[in-house]
Amino acid sequence: MNVYDSVKMGDLLKPHGFAIHDSPEGADMVILNTCHIREKASEKVYSELGRIRQEKEKRSKNGSNMIIAVAGCVAQAEGEEIIKRAPFVDIVVGPQSYQNLPKLLEQIKREKSWAIDLDFHHEAKFDSIPEDSGSQGVSAFVSVQEGCDKFCHFCVVPYTRGAEFSRGISEIMRETIRVVSMGAKEVTLLGQNVSAYHGVSDDGQEWSLGKLIKSLASIKGLERIRYLTSHPTDMTDDELVSAHGAESKLMPFLHLPIQSGSDKILKSMNRKHTRKEYLDIISKFKAVRSDMAFSSDFIVGYPGETEEDFLDTLSIVKEVGYSICYSFKYSPRPGTPASSLDNQVPEDVKDERLQRLQDAILQSQLSFNQSKIGDVMEVLLEKHGKKKGQIAGKSPYLQTVIVDGSDKLIGKIVKVKITEAYQNSLTGIIES
Ligand code: 5AD
Ligand code: SF4
Repeated sequence: MNVYDSVKMGDLLKPHGFAIHDSPEGADMVILNTCHIREKASEKVYSELGRIRQEKEKRSKNGSNMIIAVAGCVAQAEGEEIIKRAPFVDIVVGPQSYQNLPKLLEQIKREKSWAIDLDFHHEAKFDSIPEDSGSQGVSAFVSVQEGCDKFCHFCVVPYTRGAEFSRGISEIMRETIRVVSMGAKEVTLLGQNVSAYHGVSDDGQEWSLGKLIKSLASIKGLERIRYLTSHPTDMTDDELVSAHGAESKLMPFLHLPIQSGSDKILKSMNRKHTRKEYLDIISKFKAVRSDMAFSSDFIVGYPGETEEDFLDTLSIVKEVGYSICYSFKYSPRPGTPASSLDNQVPEDVKDERLQRLQDAILQSQLSFNQSKIGDVMEVLLEKHGKKKGQIAGKSPYLQTVIVDGSDKLIGKIVKVKITEAYQNSLTGIIES
């Protein structure tokens, strides 16, 4: 989502004389687009600001100015506190108000002071995205939904991104057609709760994500559709399940975070589903598409997590056989209910559990990847590989696949026979 938002901020500022520059050196403006999801990500903001400040000082010695803006969820959560801690920052703008960046630039020029905008205006944000947004390459993001009403007890997203909002159908269709016309073969539909999508069509009907995907699949030139991230309690859309069985453009991959394998912890996290309900969803998708791949997010060391609860998490990794997983130590976030619980897990226990979980995840990834050896699969080639003469792309299951081949193949979908498998990638030979 932040990658998508960063692209959009660049697009918004283009008509105002700005162009993307690849480093802060020599830039007229630096926007730090920030993440507040865990403490580590938030802390990075101030050390990064320290580095950017040095560039600003260098420029002012040469008589020119550099504008520094802090955008994203840290801006939303900390607001004026950022100006207090880093008075050289010129603009603080939240993730639902960055369409006002041009106005904020005017304001700081006019008032010769800093400016701040933390309002929530989802609709205005999407309306303001210029129609001539830049190319995102072979694989593009299209945001379809934002915000969250779930309020998991560990998470800041409902506070920083605001209430759940779905974009309208025709707007999404237009943006998807546009990115495809600029070279995208694959589109990933984004939303903090993409499975809660309920956008309205021009005739006033509410569409589910499944219905939206079926409609997007008719776009000529669009070869692959993905979506991210889903929540188990929203997986009631039969059209989404049936689309996985019927629509070849919809990739056989579902990112469905469970966070913990223990029912006790799921309840305490306010996830509103059980382990069994989660596993039933996995079975439902497998029934329509037997080769469906699954991924998840996990949190270890949530307050009150015992060794037994943690073993439930380890066992679900084995049971599902994930193709990829993301795992994190629980990080208390200010203002969230879990941060004030008094049964916090000691840091060394969290470290040890994270290590064991990551070992299990890597084993699962390796087994999943090894199960593909000998298969012939379509790979969308996206970029150069690390070694000369190699190119890298993505399998339908979102694995990185590396092949020998010419740069001219980048952007094409080719058939690849898989020859070797590792924890994080596959290698293969192009067949056609
Ligand atoms: N601590 C650790 N991980 C967290 N996540 C969200 N909030 C926290 C937190 N407070 C993780 C969840 C979520 C992913 C995006 O980040 O696993 O799915
Ligand atoms: Fe955060 Fe996702 Fe829970 Fe919403 S559903 S509160 S974004 S973890």
